[in-house]
Amino acid sequence: MGILSKLIGAVKVCSNVFSRYLINRYLINRYCRGKGLEIGPGTVPYSRSLETVYVDKFLTHRVSARKYVTADASSLPFKDNSFGFVISSHCLEHCPNTLKVLEEWKRVILPNGVIFLILPHGERTFDRGRQLTTLEHHIEDQTKGVDESDSTHWEEFAEYSIPQYDHGWTNQARNEDGSWNFEWIAASGNLHYHVWTQNGIIGVLKHLGCRILVCLEELIGRTDSFVVVACIEKD
Ligand SMILES: C[S@@+](CC[C@H](N)C(=O)[O-])C[C@H]1O[C@@H](n2cnc3c(N)ncnc32)[C@H](O)[C@@H]1O
Ligand SMILES: [Zn+2]
Repeated sequence: MGILSKLIGAVKVCSNVFSRYLINRYLINRYCRGKGLEIGPGTVPYSRSLETVYVDKFLTHRVSARKYVTADASSLPFKDNSFGFVISSHCLEHCPNTLKVLEEWKRVILPNGVIFLILPHGERTFDRGRQLTTLEHHIEDQTKGVDESDSTHWEEFAEYSIPQYDHGWTNQARNEDGSWNFEWIAASGNLHYHVWTQNGIIGVLKHLGCRILVCLEELIGRTDSFVVVACIEKD
């Protein structure tokens, strides 16, 4: 490896660490207080607080230093009103039933608690070109009770998302005849079911009775992402 590429690598690491610091200092620490959940943290959680419980469905994504709870985002093993916040980055798009998931998060969050969402922007990721998901679509998914076996988005994921990004898993994801093994892709948690920009997810959150606190069109250090923070209002 040449000295220049080493230098570029070091600059990238520093800028990553610095942007994480800024996000924590000015956003997460401000809105995510007390006991909370981070859902789908993978190996790179955003919340550093020891009061945050990490929840992830897939064992392979764990970091060893912290205890994770294994659960699906749509079915959390916690009592109603037990957390001040849920933070989640790049996870909701992997869930087939968006409203079911968000209602589950709402259930475990205290009144006036917070949902802090970091999502891939539909026009700035490998989902570019896919149709943005409408609120009506989410309502229909909820009414039908869709789960991981839902095939509605398979073709568009294969047509747009897979070719725009080297996922690393694509070799394992083929059937013997070379066609995509969508069941495998869905079961591995790699499929993006839905695609948003800010307005789309804001509509979904308002539909659930949430009050929008903050929107950031672009997350510092992560240009493919936007941020929406919402307050949970309960009757
Ligand atoms: C693309 S990674 C994002 C990791 C990290 N939060 C980030 O922003 O880079 C998606 C994460 O969500 C987890 N995940 C996917 N589907 C999930 C589900 N239904 N329930 C809980 N976690 C899920 C995956 O295991 C993985 O850790
Ligand atoms: Zn759908």
